[in-house]
Order: sequence, then C-alpha cells, then structure tokens
Amino acid sequence: MCGIIGFTGNINAKEVLLQGLKALEYRGYDSAGISFFTETGLKTIKAVGKVAGLAEKAAMSDDCTKCGIGHTRWATHGGVSEVNCHPHHFGKVTLIHNGIIENYKELQEELASEGKEPVSQTDSEIAAMVIDSYYKADPVSAIKKAVKKLRGAYAFCIMFEDHPGSIYAIRNGSPLVATNTGAGSIIASDMVALIKYSKDYFVLPEHHIAHLTEGSINITDLDHNEIEPDMLHVNWDMAAARKGGYEYFMLKEIHEQPEALRNTISPRIKDGMPDFSEDGIDDSLFADINRIIIAACGTAMHAGLIGKNMIEKLSRVPVSVDIASEFRYQDPVIDEKTLVITISQSGETADTLAALRLAKERGAKTLSIVNVKGSSIARESDYVLYTHAGPEIAVASTKAYTVQLAAMYLVSFRFAYIKEKISGKKTKELIKELEKMPGFVEKMLSCDKAIEPISNKLLKTESLFFIGRGLDYALSCEGSIKLKEISYIHSEAYAAGELKHGTISLITDNVPVIALATQEDVFAKMISNIREVRSRGAKVIMIAGADAQVDASLCDHLITLPPVNDVFAPFGAAIVLQYIAYYTAVARGLNVDQPRNLAKSVTVE
Ligand code: F6R
Repeated sequence: MCGIIGFTGNINAKEVLLQGLKALEYRGYDSAGISFFTETGLKTIKAVGKVAGLAEKAAMSDDCTKCGIGHTRWATHGGVSEVNCHPHHFGKVTLIHNGIIENYKELQEELASEGKEPVSQTDSEIAAMVIDSYYKADPVSAIKKAVKKLRGAYAFCIMFEDHPGSIYAIRNGSPLVATNTGAGSIIASDMVALIKYSKDYFVLPEHHIAHLTEGSINITDLDHNEIEPDMLHVNWDMAAARKGGYEYFMLKEIHEQPEALRNTISPRIKDGMPDFSEDGIDDSLFADINRIIIAACGTAMHAGLIGKNMIEKLSRVPVSVDIASEFRYQDPVIDEKTLVITISQSGETADTLAALRLAKERGAKTLSIVNVKGSSIARESDYVLYTHAGPEIAVASTKAYTVQLAAMYLVSFRFAYIKEKISGKKTKELIKELEKMPGFVEKMLSCDKAIEPISNKLLKTESLFFIGRGLDYALSCEGSIKLKEISYIHSEAYAAGELKHGTISLITDNVPVIALATQEDVFAKMISNIREVRSRGAKVIMIAGADAQVDASLCDHLITLPPVNDVFAPFGAAIVLQYIAYYTAVARGLNVDQPRNLAKSVTVE
C-alpha cells in the first residue's frame, strides 16, 4: 500500500527521499509528497500522479535539506488530490501514514468540538491533529498519548516543527524497517528503499517509538525503556531491485524464477531428503497434526490450492484452503492438532495476518511461508519457511508464486514421510524431480515466442474462461487472476466439469477458453469438456503435457510442456499463464507493473 520514507543525515535528504519514493512507488502510486526542514522552516511539496511528477516539482526549488519524510499514496480515505496527499500538517506536527485509522470519524468530531477542522478528507490528517493536541514540546509523550486514542493499523513517521533534524516513528500492524549508516538514519516501509545504503536493518517493533537523528536511532517502548533491535540481513542488492534491461519488472521477475526456485529448494535438501532443520522446523511439528488449514489471499491462496492437492494426495490428511479475508468470519474449527499454514509474499497482508492471529488464539500450530524477512507474518508465526525469491516489485506476483509452490511441495513431501505415508525411497524420488524444477522452468521460459502471437489475438477479447481439473483447476485460478489484474480482460476460472451446470451458457465464439490439460488421469475428461466448449463456438488455447495426443480440430493453439512428471506440471504451466497475461497486457498498451487500482502489499483489511 502506501510507501513511507524518512531520512536524517549528512547528505542531501531531498534526493534520498525522492529515490526512496521511486523505489517504493510499486506499493501504491496515486500521489506523492515530501516535507523537509530548511533553514527557514519546514517545506512541503506534493503532486498527484507518479513520483516523477513530484521530482520535477522538487527540482524547481533549490532548498538544501538534510532531514525529511516522503510518502507515495494509495488512496483509502478521500479521493486522489494534492490536499489528500501526504505529508499532512497540523500545528507543529507533520506526518506521513500507512494504514487506516478506524475511529477517525469519532476523533474528528471530538476535535471539531474544540474548533479544530481538517483541510483534507483523510484519516491521516486526523492522526496529525490528535498528536498535535497532546504536543507540549515533548514529542515522545505526545505520540504515546495520541496512539492510546487511535484504533486501527498505522505506521507513522512524524516531524515536529521545533525539533529540526529529528524524525519519530511508531507502528501498529503496518511495516517499518530502519537502519543507521555513515550517511545518517533512514526508515521506510520496505527494504527496497534502504538497500542502497545498507543490507543490514531492523524491523521497528510494534508499539515502540523510534527517534532518528543523524548519528543514531533510539528505540523505546511505551514505558520509556530503551531496547536494542534485532538486526537482520538481506542477501540481495540494488541490482535485484532494478529492471536490469527488461521492459517491465514483471518480465524480469518471470525470468528470475529458475534462480528463485534454486535458492528456495536447494538449502532444504540434505542427503536427498527434504530437511527443515536450518529453518528451525522440527519434525515434531508434523507428527501430531491431523488437519491442515491454509489461509492466504490472491495468488498466495492459489499456491495454497496446489499445496492442498499435494498434501492430501501424499498424506491423506484433510486440508482446507481459506481466503484469509473470510477466515475469521467463519468461526473456524481449530484445535491444537490443527496446523494453520499462512502463505504471503509480503508477510504484511492484513487479512492473512489477522487469520494467523486468530489461529494462534485458538491454539493451532502455525507455519508461514513468507518471502520478506522479518515481516509481521513471519515474526508472529510459530515457524517460518522463507521463500528466497528476492524482492518482487511488479504488482502481479510471478516468482513469489512458483517459490510458494516449491515450499508447499517440500512441506507435502516431509509431512507425508513423517506420517509414514511415503517411504524414504519415494520421498527421495520426489525430491529428485523437484530439484529439476529450476532447469525445467528455464526451458519453459523460451515458450514466450509461441505465446506472444496468441496474446496478440486476445487483444480485443472482453471475456474468457480458464478451465481445468485437479491441479489444473488450481492453476486456472492463478491464470485468471493474472490476466484480469494486468490486462483488465474479464475472465473466470472454472472447474472444467462444472461448466455444464450453468456457466456454459456464456460460451460463444467471442469467448475464448484457455484449457489446461496437463494431468493424464483426467485428460480424457478434459478432452470431453474441451469438445463441449468447442461445439459452442469457443476458440480454444490448450496447454497439455508432452505426450498428449491432441486432435488438430480440438483447439486453435496448442502449447505443450516439456516432458515432466504430472504432479510437477504446475511449475511449467504457471510460466505459460504468466506469459499469456504479460503479453496480452503489453499488446493492450497497459502499464504491466502498476495496474490501476492495485497495490503490491495490502496492509488494510
Ligand atoms: C496477484 C497478487 C495478489 C497477492 C495477494 C497476497 O498477482 O500479487 O493477489 O498474491 O495480495 O499478497 P501477499 O502474498 O503479499 O500476502
């Protein structure tokens, strides 16, 4: 969602803020602003639209500054306008905010009774007003009093007019990471804004106040006790957070999948067996479990659908997959023999985090599969299995998805082995196949030449269907979301056998069908389903296994995967689906990396 950055040090802060905002722009990007201390006081520059617009405006003034805060906004309360854009000022307070203040209406009424009115429609300005109302020259005390009144999620960076050179920060839910380097102290909503200055950083603990000055970052809890944060280290660098010659981050990230898979799989294999000892995950976690619930959102939830299929197939333990935003409203049945697995690239998705918290409250054991180190979901889970995809910048998730699949496969193998449902020999055979996936995906990357012309034909399509059975149905869900989010073409994923129970009435010669038929055990049934849509006029793009015997009259385009054991076909089919979405969006002239209305990390419910 919104991107936050604050810097105070001995170099040009305006430049640090603008570069940081550019790096954070992928999180949310309808407007942006910066505030900074100058010799004559605080100055603010705001612009609707991209950070480039803000940078142009900022270049018109030659103010010199060493301390400031900046924000890219993804609107929640109040439309897209300069007045609603952050930073917000009130009295002596200037702040930026990521999150939602749920009781802002109540607080606004209270403030109005004191004759104080906001100028914007944002909940964030109300937070600035509340902090200012407690401010009597002591920033920490004002922040402490104010947060007692605020309900909801927040990450704030705050400057006080009479404390030049200082930035204060506090968070509840929404992420903030920080580091102090030779150049000064820097804080941001994620590592991509910090990586230029340091690979070592810490996550600001919730409900702690950070005071940033040029020389240090001082952290205190709400009782004034000073604490030392746990330092973390990332093993990627600036190059990973840049496009590196690709037209879009999404294409770069599609191409990074072989390496991301290698980095995620290899460290978890010892003597040919899946092994999580380096992750601190003991087999005792799996031993007592008689039920698994997977909770996640969007693409991560789709990885969970594949995980369910694999775990049930191998272990015969029931698995349900829940959309995290629905999970807690279903009053889920959970006990201490339930393992709740949350999956999240960012590790900050508010609904997934809430599902995790509920699972813990009800006594379940929790394991999370997360990409961002030190994120809230990772920290709050009993166990965490990090995927090593590196930073994912494009809004549409690609490499994070395939590494989530890899993590789910590793879990399903170890789990089945511990449950004595598969032998050591069988486990090793499966691992051997999984180890081939980086190479298999590498081969798949060259299918772009076949897919680009197909995507060009989908250009004018208004609606289409993805169909499949079993693993292919789970993949259809992923293919559909990917296409919708970046090409804006309406699509639906359907279990192929379910189509004739109503939805087939929508099939016409203007509604193409992308049919996934990579699984031999249901191949004949898929062929029947394809014939059903074909005879209603649908153009069919079929994705099939290497050995599939496909009658030329059955489809308009056939994409075959290189030879692979069926249960591993999703790794290859995923690449085809990612390319279909990518090239269709490119053909439609859209901004692939930053689709309208979407943000990378959804930290509000
Ligand atoms: C789609 C996409 C989203 C995310 C979802 C969960 O391409 O990226 O559907 O998968 O918002 O995000 P994380 O994985 O960060 O919890």
